[in-house]
Amino acid sequence: MRIPVKLFGFVFWLFSLNCAQCQECLQKDITYENIEPDAKASYSDGETVRVKCMTGYTGLYKLNCENGKWKTVVERPCAKKKCSQPGDIANGDFKLIKGSEFVFGATVLYTCKKGFEMTSRINQRTCRSEGWDNTLPVCEAVKCPAIRTDGGVTASGNTDEGSYGDLIHFECVSTDKKIDGSSDIHCTETGEWSDSVPTCKEITCAAPVIQDGYVVEEMQKYQKDARLKYECFKGFKPREGIPKCSKFGWTLKPECDEVTCELKSTTYGVEKITPEGKTIFRAGERVEITCAEKYWISFTKEITKSFKCQDDGKWDMEPVCRDIKCEVPHDQDVFRPNFYFSGDMKFGAKQNYSCISGYDQMAAEATCTRDGWTPKPLCVEKCGLPPKVDFADTTNMTKNEYNSGEKVEYSCFYKYTLDQHHPYSKYLTCEQGQWRGNIRCLKVTCELKSTTYGVEKIKPEDKTIFRAGERVEITCAEKYWISFTKEITKSFKCQDDGKWDNEPVCQDIKCEVPHDQDVFRPNFYFSGDMKFGAKQNYSCISGYDQMAAEATCTRDGWTPKPLCVEKCGLPPKVDFADTTNMTKNEYNSGEKVEYSCFYTYTLDQHHPYSKYLTCEQGQWRGNIRCLKPCSVTVEEMDKRGIRLRWGKQENKISTHEDQIGFECQTGKNVKGNVNDLRQTCNDGVMNLPQCV
Ligand SMILES: *[C@@H]1O[C@H](CO)[C@@H](O)[C@H](O)[C@H]1NC(C)=O
Ligand SMILES: *[C@@H]1O[C@H](CO)[C@@H](O)[C@H](O)[C@H]1NC(C)=O
Ligand SMILES: *[C@@H]1O[C@H](CO)[C@@H](O)[C@H](O)[C@H]1NC(C)=O
Ligand SMILES: *[C@@H]1O[C@H](CO)[C@@H](O)[C@H](O)[C@H]1NC(C)=O
Repeated sequence: MRIPVKLFGFVFWLFSLNCAQCQECLQKDITYENIEPDAKASYSDGETVRVKCMTGYTGLYKLNCENGKWKTVVERPCAKKKCSQPGDIANGDFKLIKGSEFVFGATVLYTCKKGFEMTSRINQRTCRSEGWDNTLPVCEAVKCPAIRTDGGVTASGNTDEGSYGDLIHFECVSTDKKIDGSSDIHCTETGEWSDSVPTCKEITCAAPVIQDGYVVEEMQKYQKDARLKYECFKGFKPREGIPKCSKFGWTLKPECDEVTCELKSTTYGVEKITPEGKTIFRAGERVEITCAEKYWISFTKEITKSFKCQDDGKWDMEPVCRDIKCEVPHDQDVFRPNFYFSGDMKFGAKQNYSCISGYDQMAAEATCTRDGWTPKPLCVEKCGLPPKVDFADTTNMTKNEYNSGEKVEYSCFYKYTLDQHHPYSKYLTCEQGQWRGNIRCLKVTCELKSTTYGVEKIKPEDKTIFRAGERVEITCAEKYWISFTKEITKSFKCQDDGKWDNEPVCQDIKCEVPHDQDVFRPNFYFSGDMKFGAKQNYSCISGYDQMAAEATCTRDGWTPKPLCVEKCGLPPKVDFADTTNMTKNEYNSGEKVEYSCFYTYTLDQHHPYSKYLTCEQGQWRGNIRCLKPCSVTVEEMDKRGIRLRWGKQENKISTHEDQIGFECQTGKNVKGNVNDLRQTCNDGVMNLPQCV
């Protein structure tokens, strides 16, 4: 440092040597801040000046005037003087309101905390060059006025000299009264009590507004201990307890809660729940429970039941499935039921049992089902002997006692018939101690009514009522018949059912229109009277021969029979024959033509052959045969050693009737039987004898 300063001084000296006229320095050329201006306005060359700082500042400058210019020798700039911390106060704070640090000119402002007030007049301190002015301000707690109460109210707390934050509690002397106003007040930061001093008043309550409900017999004002009556809207229910008017108001808040039913423990014996998974139900909502096998809704014995959440929040019935249980069958004619029916009585349980005397055990074991013990009933009363029935007897009564379901058959006495129409039958059935069914035997009779029409004779005469099996014979008069058999006389039988085998009446004989008898326009000709003896003109269809001028209705229908007969055409050709008197092309039934055989042929007239063919209903009937003649040559006879005995000599043609006699040629004897020498011609065939 020393070397540069010397160097600087040397330079300055050189400069001043060069300076022609060395000048003065002016005070106004000293331009440092916060300096105290000096009294002198100018300084001569070479003069040194000490420059002081302004009041409240600290620092120093030392300048030298050299050739009219200031040269700084010492430079400590002027800075504000510092003050210490301005000082804390109880129940108060301060903050800088001028300046940013505790230096000359800074001011702090003191304030009291809430509820405190400043008792000193000045609340600021400023940093002066000698330090903080003023004294520390003081904060004291705010005071509230003394409390005055009337005789009915007692106050506790600092009532005479309450200061900020103090609490006063009021109570009524009488228990029937309550504070009208605030029962607790406190001294506020402004020195006022938070509320006015209360008085006491009668305890009363006002009718409350109830959500989802309403007050019953609402009153303007309720006295102490008065009870509040209220009800809730549908689906809501009042809370438990009755609100009473007390000095704090209603002891209970009158409220209406929504009614809900809870579905608890829904697993035991349950197969299905609809809706699933829901446990809280509102009033009116339903849940349906289906019990698993072996379980039921015990009080209704149903498997599936719908339960309803009622307005009181309870289920109409308990929504649970329980074990199916059967009860001891006391009223089922079981022998010692408490003995046999003990132990397992659940679904599926089986119990041996027996029935009381006179009762039939319906199964070896009783089984517990949803419907109770089965079989149902367990015991059934037996029946005694089947009852007597008029005109009937049992056919298979074998015992004195019958079980339910057994039946006995009845049959009626002779001449009686069993009525088998509902409700009658031939059985009585034992049903739980009672014979059931209806048997009725009817006396069998058949009646013969109106026996005069068309009747010629009745056997037996004058009898109209017939028993089963009896007979009546009716002969119809002329022109009448038993229509369904077309008989004149018929025997009728009274059957076991009291009915005639056929209707015993004679009816008019009637002929029908002969549709199938080759009659021409039968409906035209056969109209009008068709009774017995009626006559009708008629004609036959073409090719048919009318057998009579008139058709007559008889018992056998229209006569002649047939009415029309088919005609025949030309008679047929016959071998070796011809007709002798064929005169026309068409022949009626019954007409015949004669045949004769050719020369040397013989007509066979032995049955079934004859010489006629006869027209029979369009067909030629009959047989014609012409037998061939026989012939023998001389050579044949010589070969056999024979000759004709009588008649023709040789090449003889013989008819079959002829007996042809042979004899042996002279000197020869017949071989075989002598009768062989006589032969017959058999339709052209003849055996020749042999002579040797
Ligand atoms: C019923 O009786 C039979 C035969 O005596 C016996 O085997 C069975 O165990 C009995 N059952 C009960 C449930 O008592
Ligand atoms: C009597 O006969 C009827 C018919 O054959 C039969 O159904 C019934 O079981 C018999 N009753 C008795 C007790 O034998
Ligand atoms: C049948 O014909 C004859 C002759 O033509 C006639 O006299 C008679 O009245 C006829 N009979 C009937 C029933 O038509
Ligand atoms: C043919 O002659 C026979 C015998 O004399 C006779 O019975 C028959 O009626 C005659 N037939 C005719 C169509 O003349």
